[in-house]
Amino acid sequence: MESIQIHDKHFVPFINRDKISRYIEFMANQIAEDIGPDEVPIFIGILNGSFMFAADFVRNYPHDCHITFVKMASYDGVNSTGKIKHLVGINEDLTGKTVVILEDIIDTGNTLAEIYEIFRDKKVKKLMIATLFFKPDVFRKELHIDCIGKSIEDKFIVGYGLDYDGLGRNLPDIYQLKL
Ligand code: IMP
Ligand code: MG
Repeated sequence: MESIQIHDKHFVPFINRDKISRYIEFMANQIAEDIGPDEVPIFIGILNGSFMFAADFVRNYPHDCHITFVKMASYDGVNSTGKIKHLVGINEDLTGKTVVILEDIIDTGNTLAEIYEIFRDKKVKKLMIATLFFKPDVFRKELHIDCIGKSIEDKFIVGYGLDYDGLGRNLPDIYQLKL
C-alpha cells in the first residue's frame, strides 16, 4: 500500500483489506452468537458509508438474515457538522424484530443518537449496534454499542466505503489523513 492524495489532502496506509476482513469475520460471529441461530435478524446498513462493510458482514453471517439500508448524512468534509441532513426510510415492518444497525464508523455519536431516536417508537424486539470503526476519544454519548470492529485514534480515515468529500469510497483498504 502506498500513500495517496484525494482532492487537496494526503493519506497514508492505515488498515489493509486482510485486517478489515478479520475484524468483520469476528464481528459477524460475535453478533451470531448473541442472536442465536433461531432468530432471523434484520441488518440495516447506514448509507453511504456502510455499503461495503454491510455486504461483507452478511457474507460472514452464518444464519438466515435480512439486509436493508437507510440513508442519513451528518458529515461534510473532515469535520462532523453534528447535523443530520436527511434520512431515506425503511419500508419493512420492524415490529417484534431483532434489528442490527451496521455503521461504518462512530465518531461523535450524533448519528448514533439519531438512530436510537428513530428506532425508539418502532417497537422492535431488540436493537443492536455494530460499527466497523469507533473513535473513543471523540465519542460524547452515553449510548450502548454492541459490537466494535476496531477502535481507532481521532484521525480522519478514508477507504472501504468511507469518503473524503465524495472520493475514496471504492478503495479496498483504509488510509489515514497525514497531518
Ligand atoms: P458521527 O455522527 O460524528 O458519529 O459521525 C458518523 C458519520 O460521519 C459516519 O457514519 C461517517 O459517515 C462520517 N465519519 C466520521 N468519521 C469519519 C472519518 O474518519 N472518515 C470518513 N467519514 C467519517
Ligand atoms: Mg456513515
